[in-house]
Amino acid sequence: MSSRLAGKVAIVTGSSSGIGQAIAIRLASEGANIVVDYRSHPEGADETKIQIEAAGSKAIVVQADVSKIADTQNLIDQAYSQLGRCDILVNNAGVEKSAPFWEVTEADYDTVLDVNLKGAFFLTQAFVRRLRDSKQPGRIINISSVHEDMAFPNFSSYCASKGGIRMLMRNLSVELGPLGITVNNIAPGAIATPINKSLLNDKPKLDALLRNVPLGRMGTPEDVASLTVFLASDEASYITGSTYVIDGGLMRNYHEQ
Ligand code: BGC
Repeated sequence: MSSRLAGKVAIVTGSSSGIGQAIAIRLASEGANIVVDYRSHPEGADETKIQIEAAGSKAIVVQADVSKIADTQNLIDQAYSQLGRCDILVNNAGVEKSAPFWEVTEADYDTVLDVNLKGAFFLTQAFVRRLRDSKQPGRIINISSVHEDMAFPNFSSYCASKGGIRMLMRNLSVELGPLGITVNNIAPGAIATPINKSLLNDKPKLDALLRNVPLGRMGTPEDVASLTVFLASDEASYITGSTYVIDGGLMRNYHEQ
């Protein structure tokens, strides 16, 4: 087992399932202690904790809905009070709602923007305030999407939130660089996780999607976790302000049918 992140503490939002769960476990296997955040699946969060401990690291589980500012502050406070510090923030929690643009409701718009963009915004603010006060460096990694750049019909609120997180990352890389804090996005393509459960269960739709992926398969949460470890490690200390696409070639693959 390597220990590229020994002595570090990481918060991973939405780490009770999917990409967040894989990231939390992988960061732990590199030596980091982890704040496991969940909103509504405590059993998933407990499973993440068990696997972190099996990897030899510490985990605390905190229930926090990132769309609530008081909850985001509590996540940071728990990291410091229970694990003593906080070096790495992975803004992973995300939701998507599908509807034609003309049918999007205010409630769905608010849910998507509040979790994906406002949540990351204010959790990052709370994280940065503590680092600034203690003059510590830090790493911010946002799990965005290929749809921070690429159109996705019927997912206009999701695309707006991911485009927002792209510009937030770019802006913060400039504003936080002087504090020794790096900010980058990871933009996954089609990854097999609960967020696209309905797609995975719809063979014709899935086959159509896979025809657009040059590598011919869905990605795995572990594919995304490997890149996250790299961006959190010392090897990535000069990298800030960029998006790393991990999509099996999906974004590059326009072809006439
Ligand atoms: C979405 C998935 C979608 C994938 C590729 C992701 O951001 O969450 O639903 O399948 O992009 O389009």
